[in-house]
Parts: sequence; C-alpha cells; structure tokens
Amino acid sequence: MEIQLWREILTPYEQAVDEILVKFRHLIQEHKAMGEYCPIEAVNGRVKKISSILEKVQKKGISMDEIETEIEDIAGIRIICQFVEDIDRVVSLIRQRSDMQVDSEKDYITHAKVSGYRSYHLIVHYTVETMRGRKMIPVEIQIRTLAMDFWATVEHSLQYKYKQNIPLPIKKRLLGAAEAIVALDREMTSIRSEIMDAQNSFQMKANIVAEILNSIQNLYHVANKREIVKIQDEFYRIYAEDNIEALSKFSKELDIIAEGYRAQGLRL
Ligand code: GTP
Ligand code: MG
Repeated sequence: MEIQLWREILTPYEQAVDEILVKFRHLIQEHKAMGEYCPIEAVNGRVKKISSILEKVQKKGISMDEIETEIEDIAGIRIICQFVEDIDRVVSLIRQRSDMQVDSEKDYITHAKVSGYRSYHLIVHYTVETMRGRKMIPVEIQIRTLAMDFWATVEHSLQYKYKQNIPLPIKKRLLGAAEAIVALDREMTSIRSEIMDAQNSFQMKANIVAEILNSIQNLYHVANKREIVKIQDEFYRIYAEDNIEALSKFSKELDIIAEGYRAQGLRL
C-alpha cells in the first residue's frame, strides 16, 4: 500500500486518540481543581504502528481492505488507576458519556488470561469530524491499576524478547508475579478504605468544631463574658482530648445552653 494511503487511513485514528486524551486529562484536572479524588491516575494513548498493523493482518489472515473493519485496536487508550475499585468507576463513567458508545467489553480482571494478564478492555465507537466529513473510529480502551500495568509492561517486553515464545520457567515466574500483583492490589484496597475512614472522621471532626464555634459565637450575644470564657476553656480542653464523641456531646450541651437562653428571651 502506498505511504500516502496509510497516512489517509491513520489520520482520523490519530485525531480520535488526541481528542480522547484531551478529554480524559481535563477530567483529571477538573477533579484536582475541585479537590476531589479522581479514579483516573493517568492516561496515555497511541496509534498502532504500521508494522504492527501489517503483523496483525498476517496473523489474522485478513486482506488489506479489511483493516479498518477487522482491526479494532488501531486507536488505543490506556487508563491507569490507583485502586482496583477505581476501574469500575471509570467503566461506568465511560458508559455514561455521550461522545463514545461502548461496543464491547472484556473483563480480564474477574477472568485473568492464562498468561496472568489482568485489565478491563472496552471497544468504544468515537466519531471524529474531519476535512472529509464524519468518521466513526473504533477505539480500544484498556483500564488497569498501576500494579497491573507494571506487570503487563514487563511481560510484554519479555514476549517481545522471546518472540511470543516465553520459556516455561519464566512463564511460571510471571504467573507467580501476577498472583503477587493480585495480592498487592488487594492490600492497597484495604489501605484505601482505611484512608477513606480517616478522611471521613477528619471531615466529621471539622464539621463538629465548626458547629461548636458557631454556637459559642452566638452565645456572645446573650451570655455573660465569664460564662463564655468558661465554655471556651472547656472547648479547648475537650478539643485536646481528640475524641469525636466528647466533641459531639459538648456540641449538644451548647445547643441546650443556647435553647435555655432562647427560652429566657421569650419569657422576658
Ligand atoms: P489481539 O489480537 O492481541 O488484539 O487480541 P484480541 O483482539 O483477542 O484482544 P485481547 O483483548 O486479547 O488483547 C488486546 C490487547 O490487550 C493486546 O493488544 C495487548 O495490548 C493486551 N494484552 C492481551 N493479552 C495480554 C497479555 O497476555 N500480556 C500483555 N502484556 N498484554 C496483553
Ligand atoms: Mg484486540
């Protein structure tokens, strides 16, 4: 095939990859700007090299004019997550998008490949607007954790080195490493829930403290100085205990005090 023709075929695939990368990277930035956790840690993409396309044409026994319909990973996006449960979040996020339609899914996380490979694959249909009009491009999106990505990268290099024929002893060690990756991802998940718990109680404490300060401020209008100083000292003492229950109890007591003043006000 003429070089010029290859260029014509591949240009819309390049456009699709570029556009999708921009969109996911903005999603990461948006989360950061809002101070929210982003299920996507990083994203990268590529258009399959002509040599790899030719290899696949040979392997699959397809003709050159079937390239666009038979090869679905000419445009490839890889989304890297920190934790396994982020992967589901990313998948549903993609399913909800109106600019990409999910055509098929492969869950190599629930069902790892015999090699030990784990990832979640989606083929989505993405439309680009080109000089020649609209064109629908199939895009393969691979979603995996940092740990899964580490394994896949190393295994891929070995496949390349041994020309897809990795010696059995190395294959076995790779399988062992894949098991270690599963254990590592699981361990990270449990750490993640601890981090989330810690973040939750931090937020709860911040909210209670804000309520207490608000109540004390309101008391300034009604209570006498001596009583407020006493309440403030009590607050500092309880705050130093670092005990959410005690803080919460104190906050309720302040509510009762405020209620008392309100009742007095009504009587007067
Ligand atoms: P391909 O002809 O390779 O595209 O196979 P397929 O069309 O059946 O798709 P599959 O989901 O098996 O693989 C798609 C892509 O996932 C590959 O191109 C690789 O990037 C990746 N992949 C699949 N299996 C493995 C594996 O065992 N090791 C590594 N490192 N990557 C894999
Ligand atoms: Mg494929």
